[in-house]
Amino acid sequence: MNWLRATPEVKVVEVGPRDGLQNESELIPGEVKQRFIAALADAGFSEIEATSFVSPRWVPQLADAAEISASLQPRDGLIYTALVPNEKGLDLALAAGYRRVAVFTAASEAFCQKNTNRSIAESLRDFGPLIERARRSGAGVRGYVSTAWYCPFSGRVDRDNVRRVTHELLALGVDEVSLGDTVGLAVPTEVDEVLDVVLNDALGMIALHFHDTSGTALANVLAGLRNGVMTYDASAGGLGGCPYAPGATGNLATEDLLYMLHGMGIKTGVNLERVARASLELAGHLGRTLPSRTLARMKRTLQAS
Ligand code: HMG
Ligand code: MG
Repeated sequence: MNWLRATPEVKVVEVGPRDGLQNESELIPGEVKQRFIAALADAGFSEIEATSFVSPRWVPQLADAAEISASLQPRDGLIYTALVPNEKGLDLALAAGYRRVAVFTAASEAFCQKNTNRSIAESLRDFGPLIERARRSGAGVRGYVSTAWYCPFSGRVDRDNVRRVTHELLALGVDEVSLGDTVGLAVPTEVDEVLDVVLNDALGMIALHFHDTSGTALANVLAGLRNGVMTYDASAGGLGGCPYAPGATGNLATEDLLYMLHGMGIKTGVNLERVARASLELAGHLGRTLPSRTLARMKRTLQAS
């Protein structure tokens, strides 16, 4: 298994505080979010997406982005990111001290319109100056391509759209593109197909972002690993979903991803038990069980200790 020997370490980007929490309909108190993020920071991630500076009318749950950002605790080797849709979001993120932001567009026109009230071309046009300004301010920029496999409104997405949008984002100056299976419908052979058209010389700049609606997210990670992709997004406990993607459930659970990677001998630098404890504390506040299966397995032991 040459591909496995060539994968001694993988980067896991924790997106639970943003992608996970944005989908919660009941407003979560700031202290609960702060404790959740601090516990995740203690787990050893090198990147945590802490919140988003989007319109509070579109995502009320994250209207407290500035307060949450002010509470972030610096850790060696950890960078916090914030999701921004436009120049206003970038202003707020830079003012809050972020050194890395994430912009987002889509490979499907219908989803881009529903999620951001503009076309893919308009989003890319607006990102040009935004990315340039972010970089001039010393901030790195990640770009998301949502609906890289399926769109909740228009079905299967043309592979060529994914290739085109990915390469346009890279040409605009993002340092990484995260391909999103927003609705969680992709299967491993489809991951291969998209990576076949996208990777070319972009290999080191591609991350994968799977939602786990159909239970195929871990299998899709394996397809990504075989293709040489070294960065995966995940959400503690398997929280999440996008309020503008009907039918989508949570992200790939961080605990499930860590369990599989560590078991395969792939290092992540992240402590699984600490992530699980962070998820359990949040689940206690939410008053429900989170979807991660590894978390469910670990729960009794952790609660007893
Ligand atoms: P719009 O209504 O067309 O915006 O929304 P606008 O420019 O006309 O502004 C309307 C109002 O919003 C104005 O306020 C602006 O100031 C305000 P008013 O004058 O009416 O009081 N506004 C803002 N406020 C705070 N921060 C901002 C901001 N921008 C405008 N940044 C907009 C356009 C893009 C703003 C809106 O559609 C939006 O916020 N969309 C975000 C939706 C969202 O967050 N979706 C989830 C994240 S994406 C995702 O989950 C997918 C991902 O996980 C990958 C995957 O799974 O595929 C990343
Ligand atoms: Mg997502």
